[in-house]
Amino acid sequence: MVAELSRERSERIEPTPRPARLPTAPGPDPVPLLGAIPHLLRFGRDSIGTAGRLFERYGPLASIVRAPARIMSPRGISCVVANGPALNREVLTQHERYRMYALPGTYFPEASDLARARTRGGTRGRPSEDRLRPIQRTLTGLFHVNGDEHRRHRRLLQPAFNKTRIDAYRDDMVALTQRMLDEWREGEERDVHADMTELTLRIATKTLFGEDAGERGVALARMMQHWLITMFSPGMLLRLDLKGLPYSRWLDLTRSIDDETAALLRDKREAVARRASSDPHGPIAADMLSMLVAARDEDGSALDEDELVGHVGVIFGAGHETSTNALAWTLFLLAEHPEAANELDAELAGVLHGDPPTVEQLAKLPFLDAVVKESMRVLPPVPLHPRVVAEDTELGGHFLPANTELFLSIFHMHHDPALFTNPDRFDPMRWSKIKPSVYEYNPFSAGPRMCIGAAFATMEIKIALAMLLQRFRVERTRATRVDRRVAITLAPKHGLTMRIRRADGAWVSARRSLPDVRGNIREIVELP
Ligand code: HEM
Repeated sequence: MVAELSRERSERIEPTPRPARLPTAPGPDPVPLLGAIPHLLRFGRDSIGTAGRLFERYGPLASIVRAPARIMSPRGISCVVANGPALNREVLTQHERYRMYALPGTYFPEASDLARARTRGGTRGRPSEDRLRPIQRTLTGLFHVNGDEHRRHRRLLQPAFNKTRIDAYRDDMVALTQRMLDEWREGEERDVHADMTELTLRIATKTLFGEDAGERGVALARMMQHWLITMFSPGMLLRLDLKGLPYSRWLDLTRSIDDETAALLRDKREAVARRASSDPHGPIAADMLSMLVAARDEDGSALDEDELVGHVGVIFGAGHETSTNALAWTLFLLAEHPEAANELDAELAGVLHGDPPTVEQLAKLPFLDAVVKESMRVLPPVPLHPRVVAEDTELGGHFLPANTELFLSIFHMHHDPALFTNPDRFDPMRWSKIKPSVYEYNPFSAGPRMCIGAAFATMEIKIALAMLLQRFRVERTRATRVDRRVAITLAPKHGLTMRIRRADGAWVSARRSLPDVRGNIREIVELP
C-alpha cells in the first residue's frame, strides 16, 4: 500500500524531469572533469558560508553550480539558493508550486526504485524491496505530503498542538528540567549541548508517547538521532547494501526504527481502545500519540498505520534537535554577552522569585522573550528551508525548471543589514524597537508549512532557561572551541563544554577572565 501511495504521489506531484534544462539564476561553472561535485561538497560541508559567498557574488537568487545536480530531493535536477523577504514570501506562500519532500531525501525510494529492487531481488549490493520499504514511512510524516493531502494531515494533527494542549505539557517540562538540574553540581564541566539533547529528548518522549513508553521512547529517539547523523555522513555516498558499509547500517537502523515505532503504535492503539471501552465519554489521554490515534476527519476517516508511523518520526525528529540547538546557542550567547545575562537574571528574579514559571508568568517575561527571539535570529536552529519546484516557474526574474531544488536562506535574511541594524550582533534590546514581518524573521518558517510545534518549542525553551538561570550560571571554559555544523539544523560541531556555577550574577567578571572564543562560529556572529 505504501508503494501504491508513493507511486500515486510522485506521479501527481512531480512531472518527469527533462534533462539539460537549468535555472537561469547565475552561479559558478562546473569544474573541468569533476563537474558539479566540488561545488556540492563545498555546500554540504558549509552551506551557510557557501550560500553567503554565492549571494555576494551573484545576487539573491543564485545557482549552487551551473550544471545538473541534486542534494536532497530524489528527483532534483539543479540547485539554487535564495535570500530576502520578497523571495521568502513568494516561496512560502505558494505551497503548491514549492513543495517539500520526505526527510530521507535522496534515500527516499520512488516507485521505480522499488520496482527495480523487486526485479533485481537485492543482488550485487543493491538493496531489496524489503530493505527499501521501511524508508517510505520512517521520518516521512508531514514533510512527505503536499497540497490537499498536507492540508488534511495538518487538520488531523492540529488539535494535538492547540494552545490548551500545549499548556498542559508545562508540568512535564518543569519536572524534567528540575530532574536535569538536580544532577548538576557547582564547579563541574558539562557538555551543555549533550544535556539539552537529553532534556528535549525526554520532554519529547513524555509528551509524544506518554508515561507508558518510558525508556522505550528514549531508546527509539536515540536510534533516530543516530539515523539522522548517519544519513549525512560522507560514507553514505557509496550506496551499496553490503554488510559493514554505512548505507547498509543505515538500512538496518531504518528497519529497527520502523519496527519499534510500529510496536509502540500498536500498544498505544490498544491503550486508547481500552480507555474508550471503559469510559466511552471520558477525555483522550494527554499524550500526542493518543490524540493522533483518536483523530478523525470530517468524514470520519482516521490516520492509517503508515501515516501515523511517519508522523511520529517527523514530530520526534523535527521536535527535539531544533529545541536542543536553540537552548545550547542561547546559553553560549548569554555567557558571551554578560550585560544581557544580568538583565535576564534580574527579570527572572523579579517575576518568578526562584520558582519555575507558570503559563501565565511566561507572558510576563518580555526580556526572556527577546533573548529567545534574538538567539534564533542570530543563530537560527534551521538556517535553510528546502523546497523543490513542482512545475516550470519564474522566481525573482529567473526561470526555474520543474524539480529545481531551492534552499531559502533564513540565516542570511536574519543577517541582512537592511532589515536588522548591526545584524551579526546579539542584541536582545533591539526587540523593544522592531517588529519584523514573518517574511523578514522566521525561525519557524511561515505560510501553510510553518512549524506546527512552534508554541511547544517556545514554551519548552523558555521554561528550561528560566529554571536553569535561576539556579546556575554557565561559563565557557578556556579549552572550548566553537565550530558550526549544519545538517538541516545548525549545531555546535564539538558540543558545548561549559563550567557550571551557582547563580551568583558574576557574568561580567567571568567573561573578562576568559580569552576570546576560538572556532568558526566567529565568522557568523559578532562576539566581544
Ligand atoms: C526551536 C525549535 C524549532 C524550530 C526552530 C523549528 C523550525 C521549523 C521549521 C523552520 C519548519 C518548517 C520548515 C520549512 O518551511 O521548510 C518546521 C516544521 C515542522 N516542525 Fe518545527 N521547529 C522547532 C520545534 C518543533 C517542535 C518542538 C515540534 C514538535 C513537537 C516540531 C514539529 C515540526 C513539524 C511536524 C513540522 C512540519 C510542518 C509541515 O510541514 O506542515 N518543531 N519546524
